Amino acid sequence: MIVITAPTGDIGTQVTEQILTSGKPFRVIARDPSRLPTQIKECGDIVEGSHRDRETLERAFDGATRLFWLVPSDPAATDAEAAYVGFSEAAAQLLPSSGITHVVSISALGRGWPDDAGHASASIRMDDMLKATGVNYAALACASLMSNVLRQADSIRETGTFCYPANADLKLRHVAPEDVAQVSVRLLLDGSWSGVHEVPMIGPEELTFIRMARILSGVVGHAVNYVEISMAEMKEAMLQSGASEGMALAMIEMLKAKNAGLDQTAVRTAEDIANSPTNFRTWAEKRFA
Ligand SMILES: NC(=O)c1ccc[n+]([C@@H]2O[C@H](COP(=O)([O-])OP(=O)(O)OC[C@H]3O[C@@H](n4cnc5c(N)ncnc54)[C@H](OP(=O)(O)O)[C@@H]3O)[C@@H](O)[C@H]2O)c1
Repeated sequence: MIVITAPTGDIGTQVTEQILTSGKPFRVIARDPSRLPTQIKECGDIVEGSHRDRETLERAFDGATRLFWLVPSDPAATDAEAAYVGFSEAAAQLLPSSGITHVVSISALGRGWPDDAGHASASIRMDDMLKATGVNYAALACASLMSNVLRQADSIRETGTFCYPANADLKLRHVAPEDVAQVSVRLLLDGSWSGVHEVPMIGPEELTFIRMARILSGVVGHAVNYVEISMAEMKEAMLQSGASEGMALAMIEMLKAKNAGLDQTAVRTAEDIANSPTNFRTWAEKRFA
């Protein structure tokens, strides 16, 4: 039995669909099962609740052997420690006495970065807590998800702009959620691996935001321009949209670290390229259609 968290999210939906196709028994944890596709409701076990909660996890872990772990973003959390490590504490307490042998988790690049990189560092501390439970553990260490630009889909459509607090010439790595889901599923279905692994998910290219804007222009059929904003403007926008001071600060710490090369610390191997082959144009053509 494979337990899947966040099955209504971007990555989680794709993981769930692929596990369904594999024919392996699965169980999803969903706060609102009515949001699940009919086929998932018909073919899988459903545990209603949040995977933050001990009681929900006790029901979900019963008889299960593998776990897909994705912590949702929680802009209202006190800080990144609460959002990632705090959110995962009940799982860490229950895993040792559960039958779960393999955990595949969604995490971030940045292990070994000398400063606190906000969300990224908190994700890595979450990994450290979960892997200390003794399970076989694979953390998919993601660069920025390509889907981040979807948060600005309205602005791209209506004003032809998207903004970010990064120098227009800076090349950054982006990975398609589709690739993250595919590697997650491969690891969930293959019980032959053991130990603790970090799998860099870094995408096939390094792109400036100007280049991404040009690609988006071609995809959406009108001019799209990149607008550089300051870190202070980014933080203010987060606060305005309901983020706590701690979470806004954690985002700024991570973005500063990314601008300083956080995602570039992972060396791109042939295996990494094979794991995340989807380029930004291919992803955008599919998602902006
Ligand atoms: N964005 C990046 O650049 C980046 C980079 C590296 C790593 N990551 C990681 O990638 C993950 C984001 O993946 P995604 O884009 O697939 O997420 P997503 O689409 O935002 O989905 C989030 C999921 O979490 C569920 N959820 C929300 N609040 C919840 C709660 N309190 N308890 C339980 N479930 C809750 C949502 O479902 P319902 O609302 O239906 O309950 C939804 O299924 C995060 O772990 C993030 O740290 C992101």
